[in-house]
Amino acid sequence: MNNKNSLRGLLLLAGLAVSALVFAHGDVTPQAVDTKGLDPLGKDWRDSNPYRAPYANNKLAVEIGASAYTQNCARCHGLEAISGGIAPDLRKLDPGTEGDEWFKERVINGAVRDGAVYMPKMADYISQEGLWAIRSYLESKHVDE
Ligand code: HEC
Repeated sequence: MNNKNSLRGLLLLAGLAVSALVFAHGDVTPQAVDTKGLDPLGKDWRDSNPYRAPYANNKLAVEIGASAYTQNCARCHGLEAISGGIAPDLRKLDPGTEGDEWFKERVINGAVRDGAVYMPKMADYISQEGLWAIRSYLESKHVDE
């Protein structure tokens, strides 16, 4: 294979990978999140992240959140929370209570535009504990615009 052909092959592969990613959006198979070690929160949604420091187990929340994020959010929002452009970069969410409100709104209601589901209602699949753990992870990765 000469260089041009292998480049073409690479581009083709990259294209396939991208379309596989796009198709994967259709069938959501969210993974249960094991939140052992974090305070249980019950059914009523908190207005702000209960696992934010100085919460004693904040480090554990970040760890649990990292793995839960990778399994449930990364395919749209990007590995390590670095967006590849398909969905917003969640490192840029406002830190603190303001960002919590928007986070909560989105994970509970998802995002629908013109009848198309852009983001499923993740709270239908993942517990409040699991989602605040993900929020804790995202805050640990926060970057300004
Ligand atoms: C099927 C793809 C998909 C999955 C899976 C997904 N999201 Fe999203 N998410 C999106 C898209 C697309 C948007 C932008 C929606 C819009 O602009 O209307 C979005 C928006 C958001 C926003 C608002 C961001 C902003 O800057 O306005 C938050 C917060 C969010 N998602 C969190 C999550 C979390 C947490 C998970 C995993 C538990 C997750 N998402 C899983 C596609 C997805």
